[in-house]
Amino acid sequence: MGTKVAVVGATGNVGREMLSILAERGFPAADVAAVASERSVGSEVSYGEDDVLKVDDLEKFDFEGIDIALFSPGAKISAVHAPRAAKAGAVVIDNTSQFRMDPDVPLVVPEINAAAIAQYRKRGIIANPNCSTIQMVMALKPLHDLARAKRVVVSTYQSVSGAGREAMDELFNQTRSVYVNDPMTKEHFTKQIAFNCIPHIDVFMEDGSTKEEWKMAVETRKILDPDIAVQATCVRVPVFIGHAEAVTVEFEKPISVEAARAALRAAPGISVVDHRVDEGYVTPLESVGEDSVFVSRIRRDPTVRNGLSFWVVADNLRKGAALNAVQIAEILISEYLETGSGGSDDVGQRRSAG
Ligand SMILES: NC(=O)c1ccc[n+]([C@@H]2O[C@H](COP(=O)([O-])OP(=O)(O)OC[C@H]3O[C@@H](n4cnc5c(N)ncnc54)[C@H](OP(=O)(O)O)[C@@H]3O)[C@@H](O)[C@H]2O)c1
Repeated sequence: MGTKVAVVGATGNVGREMLSILAERGFPAADVAAVASERSVGSEVSYGEDDVLKVDDLEKFDFEGIDIALFSPGAKISAVHAPRAAKAGAVVIDNTSQFRMDPDVPLVVPEINAAAIAQYRKRGIIANPNCSTIQMVMALKPLHDLARAKRVVVSTYQSVSGAGREAMDELFNQTRSVYVNDPMTKEHFTKQIAFNCIPHIDVFMEDGSTKEEWKMAVETRKILDPDIAVQATCVRVPVFIGHAEAVTVEFEKPISVEAARAALRAAPGISVVDHRVDEGYVTPLESVGEDSVFVSRIRRDPTVRNGLSFWVVADNLRKGAALNAVQIAEILISEYLETGSGGSDDVGQRRSAG
């Protein structure tokens, strides 16, 4: 007996990364099913260095016997199939925005609120936060413990991979079009993304903010502290992978740069790279393939009482999505589920879902 896992959205950016991280970390899976839309049936996805999995159709996939289902097929699809998987007995870890603010669904970053995982029993679903929220709360948590964050102002520089693999193709194709003088086409983004920045991610809300900005505020409050005020401006930039954020925080108590740096250094999952010299900070390109959330440019904000500013960078497909979900799955099997342990050498494939 080992853990039976289904990865739903397995052909997408997040799904592929989940498969690779499961293999890389030696997740004790006895069986891994790769599931996507009907379009992908029969195609194959890599599972680690040596294995390939045939893709099953979500519409026909039977979740009976699956212990953990890692979902990233988009919010509308999760809305239908995550409850179906939970009903069949799987614990769903959902990467989409569908269930994040449901009071009966825990919203979890393991380094911050792992204890909330216990609430999965209410609906059989655990939500993974938005990529921009995860890296920001990772950096806020040790500082909040030290001096209580009251107000956060954040501007994001979000890579196109956060919008899915077709968005990555759009950046590539538009960039190419500029060089070869082809007509510019846009489908995914509302304006040209190549050689540009777009201050618009997800739909507009009534108050003029975008839903991505709203998510950063409400998710931070759900995960970290209901009293923190967050003002976000979310911007898409022509970077393939890796999100960056410029964050300014006003704290209740005084906090020195040295104390902040020491607290961040001691925090799990954080790497402080902060030398006030050329190249003494981390950029999105350098975060690709890394598990850490990198904090650089830590400095006092003299315009408010107890203010600090810093720069946070992470691989949005890893800690911002797939890694966080796999970490939750690891806690589920070590602390909550009785699935036995198959060991990573024991990995099989579910080839047909029926
Ligand atoms: N990328 C990030 O940084 C990030 C971070 C956090 C959360 N998320 C969320 O995760 C979700 C997926 O993101 P992504 O970047 O992986 O997108 P993506 O690259 O566009 O991949 C989408 C995946 O969903 C599958 N899918 C689409 N429609 C489906 C259907 N009707 N039935 C079954 N599967 C279907 C696709 O399968 P086919 O190949 O068969 O079409 C593909 O595997 C989104 O909700 C996104 O908001 C993304």
